[in-house]
Amino acid sequence: MRRILLDTDTAGDDTIAIMMALKAKDAVLEGITINCGNVDFDQHVKNALYTIQVAGKSGKVPVYPGARNPLLRTFRTVEEVHGNDGMGNSNFPLARQRAESKHAVDAIVETINSNPGEIDFVEIAPMTNLALAIKKDPGIVKKIRRFYFMGGANQYLGNTTPAAEFNIWVDPDAAKIVMESGLHPTMLGWEICMRHGILGPGEIADIEKIGTTESKFFLAVNRQVRRYMKQEYKQDGIVCTDSLTMAVVLNPRVATETRQRFVEVDNTYGPSRGATIVDELGILKKKPNTKVVYSASGVLFRKMLLTMLNGGLV
Ligand code: RIB
Ligand code: CA
Repeated sequence: MRRILLDTDTAGDDTIAIMMALKAKDAVLEGITINCGNVDFDQHVKNALYTIQVAGKSGKVPVYPGARNPLLRTFRTVEEVHGNDGMGNSNFPLARQRAESKHAVDAIVETINSNPGEIDFVEIAPMTNLALAIKKDPGIVKKIRRFYFMGGANQYLGNTTPAAEFNIWVDPDAAKIVMESGLHPTMLGWEICMRHGILGPGEIADIEKIGTTESKFFLAVNRQVRRYMKQEYKQDGIVCTDSLTMAVVLNPRVATETRQRFVEVDNTYGPSRGATIVDELGILKKKPNTKVVYSASGVLFRKMLLTMLNGGLV
């Protein structure tokens, strides 16, 4: 049984990643830690608690609020992508469950130290919480079983600046700490989501016919993302980022091609701040520190997503 600790800036597709973890046959979601990112921080907390309730697991998974701001610099939230509430402006009611009083950084350190070699850490947000946890107790690096993150862009345009994907752009200083910590992550970049994770209008129409709680929730939280894709990318579709990452976590066969590469984060203050630089040719002669996903099975991902949206377990 896999044991997952998930760090999220809960909005839009983050909620679908949470739901996939909650509906996994052979995984337990040990806890959710909240990071700054998509929309208002306190809204992330509400969204995570509500998602747990929609998945029928109210009170079963602790939610720990964490870093409200990046380590060093300010950032901007992206309500234009996910809606003011991060949930497609659905204005869902407050969940019954309340967040924990324990800080996310303490929860990360304590959970990993209490379960050495057991916890898979999944990062679908900026990495502030994880960087702070590593600084607080560097020993957790060797005790994390596996580390996966959605973030960066491998030889591909960013989605927040021409050089940077949002999760890394929000806190490149934290990402640099994490990438240099020895964690050796599996990286799923923006390019994989754009190539294999966009549901087109026909697929969305099929989901509209399902009529389950899960499928209605999926359509609601992604309502604004679809508008944003049409407006900014001139493409009618919903881009799945965090849920595609969670699919890779739950079923390694989704990542059809991976390569070991040295990856570094640009945390300088120029136009490429937040870029993830993949040393494709090994020019730097540095030992690879990342398993980079180079291709994914959109078919397998969709099979898992639709199983879940039909009320099944993945
Ligand atoms: O760039 C996409 C990523 O940034 C996703 O994780 C989205 O939720 C935002 O956090
Ligand atoms: Ca996210």
